[in-house]
Amino acid sequence: TRVAVVFGGRSAEHAISCVSAGSVLAALDPERYEVVPVGITRDGRWLLHDGKALAIDGGQLPEVTDGTAVSLVGDPAGRGLAVLDAGQVIGRLTEVDVVFPVLHGAYGEDGTIQGLLEMSGLPYVGSGVFASAASMDKEFTKKLLTAAGIPQGDHVVLRDADGAVCPDPTVLDQAARERLGLPVFVKPSRAGSSIGITKVTDWAQFPAAVATAAAVDPKVVVEAAVPGREIECGVLAAPGSGPPEASVPAEIRLRPGTDWYDFSVKYVDGAVDIDVPADLTPEQVTRIQDVSRRAYLALDCRGLARVDFFLGTDPDTGADRLVVNEVNTMPGFTPTSMFPQVWAASGVSYPELVDRLVAGALA
Ligand code: DAL
Ligand code: MG
Repeated sequence: TRVAVVFGGRSAEHAISCVSAGSVLAALDPERYEVVPVGITRDGRWLLHDGKALAIDGGQLPEVTDGTAVSLVGDPAGRGLAVLDAGQVIGRLTEVDVVFPVLHGAYGEDGTIQGLLEMSGLPYVGSGVFASAASMDKEFTKKLLTAAGIPQGDHVVLRDADGAVCPDPTVLDQAARERLGLPVFVKPSRAGSSIGITKVTDWAQFPAAVATAAAVDPKVVVEAAVPGREIECGVLAAPGSGPPEASVPAEIRLRPGTDWYDFSVKYVDGAVDIDVPADLTPEQVTRIQDVSRRAYLALDCRGLARVDFFLGTDPDTGADRLVVNEVNTMPGFTPTSMFPQVWAASGVSYPELVDRLVAGALA
């Protein structure tokens, strides 16, 4: 089976995609797969890559910079990657059976490459156009999950009086500020890896936080902080093999002195402890797994997803309060990422995980 592993790309999560791809490449058994690593540069050029140096090295983030220019051709019969020279096809590099888009964020996790692959007739790992687009956009994720009866934290999308997206801090009026309370998390609606997010503890910080988020996406979401534990759960499914399966949940525990799970904590400082599995009651596990499967289905996901939660306590009743933070259709596959770890703890090793994902795409 020839698998094109596509990574890097135009999103702010370029480097994390490279690191994820490094791990996926290492997990694909060379006896079973002929792997074609395809790196996309930050400015959108597709290159046949050597698949090397895709790790964080001494705090230095990897980047796709060189390789031979290739292009996916929109030719269902060809199912191939063409070698281009000055825009002219000068040869076919290889035919591929399946594409594994290990891309995070815009231009990859958001339905764009999925649309290209659909049009090209190439099978690919993971969610289709709609689920990718809906899950990438925090506003629409929340709408669809709410429609499915899945609780969400309180939030406001910054829009002007006409309803147009408007990254202007003054559109969040006093009543909304009082209702949300402090702290709030100010987020770009379509992004990942905590890029562009600020925790605001004083409204004086709010304008700068809106500008930071809007630099990533003009659609800005202001979320009330949800006090509680941070729990994540993996979902895996293959077409025709029954309902989606949920992994054991895991917990992210910040070390003292770490304020929240930001980019640097996620990938650089490692100032975090990950409990796999999380210390939860059987009832809590069942509930988290059930909501994870429901969220996956509510967003029409395919193949895989990671559902992120806050687990708090209802101040009135003392009962658990479980809120979905977001759904990731191409969760991180880096060595510190949760998705491969929760599956390993659930009895699915890393090589088996990528086998299942590739087999699911080809089914
Ligand atoms: N967006 C990052 C890669 C994640 O969800 O793991
Ligand atoms: Mg995310």
